[in-house]
Amino acid sequence: MRKVVLVTGASSGVGLALCKRLLEEDDELHVCLACRNVGKAEAVRGALLASHPAAEVSVVQVDVCSLQSVLRAAGELKQRFQRLDYVYLNAGIMPNPQLNIKALFSGLFSRKVIHIFSTAEGLLTQEDRVTADGLQEVFETNIFGHFILIRELEPLLCHSDRPSRLIWTSSRNARRSNFHLEDIQHRRGQEPYSSSKYAIDLLSVALNRNFNRRGLYSSVVCPGTMVTNLTCGILPPFLWTLLLPIIWLIRFFANAFTLTPDNGAEALVWLFHQKPESLNPLTKYLSATTGFGSNYVTTQRMDLDEDTAEQLYQNLLELEKQVRVTIQKNK
Ligand SMILES: NC(=O)c1ccc[n+]([C@@H]2O[C@H](COP(=O)([O-])OP(=O)(O)OC[C@H]3O[C@@H](n4cnc5c(N)ncnc54)[C@H](OP(=O)(O)O)[C@@H]3O)[C@@H](O)[C@H]2O)c1
Repeated sequence: MRKVVLVTGASSGVGLALCKRLLEEDDELHVCLACRNVGKAEAVRGALLASHPAAEVSVVQVDVCSLQSVLRAAGELKQRFQRLDYVYLNAGIMPNPQLNIKALFSGLFSRKVIHIFSTAEGLLTQEDRVTADGLQEVFETNIFGHFILIRELEPLLCHSDRPSRLIWTSSRNARRSNFHLEDIQHRRGQEPYSSSKYAIDLLSVALNRNFNRRGLYSSVVCPGTMVTNLTCGILPPFLWTLLLPIIWLIRFFANAFTLTPDNGAEALVWLFHQKPESLNPLTKYLSATTGFGSNYVTTQRMDLDEDTAEQLYQNLLELEKQVRVTIQKNK
């Protein structure tokens, strides 16, 4: 039986690069592209099949920022598949990012310059908004829509014979100080992206605690800083091009500048090959690229505690109950 890999946000960036790289390694896979834009997804499907005719590639339409869409997509997946071996929870947004120029210049002259540029710590704020579901857009897209998706897909993910895997695209920008249990959607702050990525790290830990005995394992990765549609919101493409020579130089000191989605996919592909039982649930796997352009995977112990992880998980379950009641009422 072919292994089935579901990838959200497979229409561009690191999600698309991941699909290509996985099929280069194993063209017997069934890769299911979970994308909001069917036109883009069909174009990707055509290109993947043209280079890997033995593979199976399918599309499921899902907007992870709409709970109706997530529930419909999950229903469709349950009809199509008996099990999912890997789910890459990768779709993500950073809307209207603003670069803090003052922090940028003070960062340039600080002793933590490499750290600041590798993690964008304190450099970026975003403007969030409320979605049709009444949730914060960054929270719903980056974490909550995915959470509902995996809750719905539990029957395809929990099996006693062999484990299934969840692999979340988090970030080095996930910071404890930007996340608050009493404001998990980050309604009151200015760094919803960092908060949502920290929430992903916590959730992954809680999922391992609650689901490992049922054969489901979760991991988090950071793909590094890449030039993708997401980062072109921070600086326009021409500025990235101008900065590239400097960034290449910085790469001799800071391995987080993976720059291309293909490099950024390194940790996502590496995890595909690992036995989940051998992985530490408190570790984040980071794609890294050397100054000479070689890719490798490095690790970081996540800055979190398991009680907070469990509390976030319980809060998400509570929020899920509330939104399901609202969805029922509006039917
Ligand atoms: N770029 C970086 O430096 C960097 C660093 C650390 C982490 N990451 C993370 O990497 C992941 C992929 O980002 P990327 O850099 O590859 O950017 P990207 O090229 O913009 O890819 C984002 C993907 O997410 C999809 N998406 C966005 N909102 C969605 C929604 N509501 N429903 C379904 N799909 C949605 C996009 O679909 P459309 O094509 O329809 O827009 C696209 O396929 C994100 O989680 C991001 O936070 C990126």
